[in-house]
Amino acid sequence: IFAAVEMAPRDPILGLNEAFQADTRAEKVNLGVGVYYDDNGKIPLLAAVRAAEEARLQAAPPRGYQPIEGAQMYNKAVQGLLFGPQSALVEAGRAVTFEALGGTGALKVGADFLFRIDPKAQVLISNPSWENHRALFEAAGFDVGTYPYYDAQTRGVDFPAMLDGLRAADAGTIVVLHACCHNPTGADLDATQWAQVVEVIRERGLVAFIDMAYQGFADGIEPDAVALRLFAESGLEFFVASSFSKSFSLYGERVGALTIVTENKETSARVLSQVKRVVRTNYSNPPTHGGAIVAAVLTDAGLRKQWEDELAGMRDRIRLMRSALVEKIAAAGANQDFSFVVRQRGMFSFTGLSVDQVERLKQEFGIYAVSSGRICLAALNSGNIDYVANAIAQVVKG
Ligand code: LMR
Repeated sequence: IFAAVEMAPRDPILGLNEAFQADTRAEKVNLGVGVYYDDNGKIPLLAAVRAAEEARLQAAPPRGYQPIEGAQMYNKAVQGLLFGPQSALVEAGRAVTFEALGGTGALKVGADFLFRIDPKAQVLISNPSWENHRALFEAAGFDVGTYPYYDAQTRGVDFPAMLDGLRAADAGTIVVLHACCHNPTGADLDATQWAQVVEVIRERGLVAFIDMAYQGFADGIEPDAVALRLFAESGLEFFVASSFSKSFSLYGERVGALTIVTENKETSARVLSQVKRVVRTNYSNPPTHGGAIVAAVLTDAGLRKQWEDELAGMRDRIRLMRSALVEKIAAAGANQDFSFVVRQRGMFSFTGLSVDQVERLKQEFGIYAVSSGRICLAALNSGNIDYVANAIAQVVKG
C-alpha cells in the first residue's frame, strides 16, 4: 500500500518543535512557533482559566455530545468579542458561529464550505502570510495566489500595492486578511486603511475571510477588533476564523471559532444547516472542555476582568522583550539597526534575517526561527535574551 508514499517535508513551523526537541544543547532556544512563554520560559496556565476549571471540576457535568455547531453560550461569547457587546449584526441574526478546533480548524471548515459553494474561486493570501494559509486552502481544493502586502524597505505595509492587488481580483475571489498582529510581519493596517479595504472588497465583489488569532496582543481586545467592526458596519457578508489558543494560553485544547456573517437571518439559517454537514462529516461535533472554560471566563464579570488583566500582562511583557532585544542587539555591536522591532505588533518579529542566517542561528547557537526570518518574541525571557541578542548580532556581522 505504501510503496509509493514519499517522505513529506517537515511542517515549516511545527516541524521546528520536532527539531528543537531533538537538539541536546542546553542553551537552545525555540523562537519558532507562536507560543507565549512567561519570564521563566513556561507556558502559563492563566489564573482565570484555572478558576473556571476548578469550578467545572466541582460541578462535574456529564460529557454528552455537543451540538454540531458547539455550545450556544460559547458561540455567543465569541460574537461578543468579535463584534462588541451590543452588535446590531448579531441582534439581527446575521452571524452564525461554530465552535472550531482552533483557528486552523475554523479556517478549514470555512474553506471546505466555500469550496462547495464556488470551487473555481481564487483565494488570495497576503505576501507573505502564515505558512499554513496556502497549504490549508490548497488542501481544500482552491487555487491560491497572493496580494502584495509587506514592503521590506519600509518594513511596513505597501498599502497602495495591496489595494491595487485587491482591485485587480475577479469578483468572488476569497481574500484572506489578518485582523491584527499580522503573521509573520507584525505590520498592521490602521483604521483608515481598513475602511479602504472594506470599500474595495465591496466594489469588486470579493469575499473577505478574516483570520483573528491574536486578538488582545496588539493594543487590547476592543482596539484589535477594529477591522471586524468596520466589516460589521459595512453590511457585507464575510467569514471570520478566531482563536483562543494564544489569548487564553489554551493551545492544546484547540479552542477557536468560525463565524460567518450573512445578509439576513434567513440566509444564516441556510448557511448554518450546510456548514453543519461540513462539520458532521469531518469531526462530528467539537470537544467540550476548552470551549466551556472560555465561555465560563467570558460570561463571568470577575473572571473576565482577571483574564483581560492577564492578557495585558502578556502583551506588556512582549513589548518589554521588543525594546530589550533592540537595545541588546545594538550593545552586542551589530552592524545593523533593529529598532523596527519595537514597531511590529503581536508575538512576532519579521527580522529580515536570511535563510542562511536563520540556519546559522540553528547550527551554531541552537536558536530556532522560521526560515522566513520570523522569530517569536514571546519566547524571549530575562534568562535567554542576552544569548539570543548576541547570536543575532554575530550572524548579521557575517
Ligand atoms: C504560528 O504561526 O506559529 C502559530 O499560529 C502556530 C501554528 O499553528 O503555526
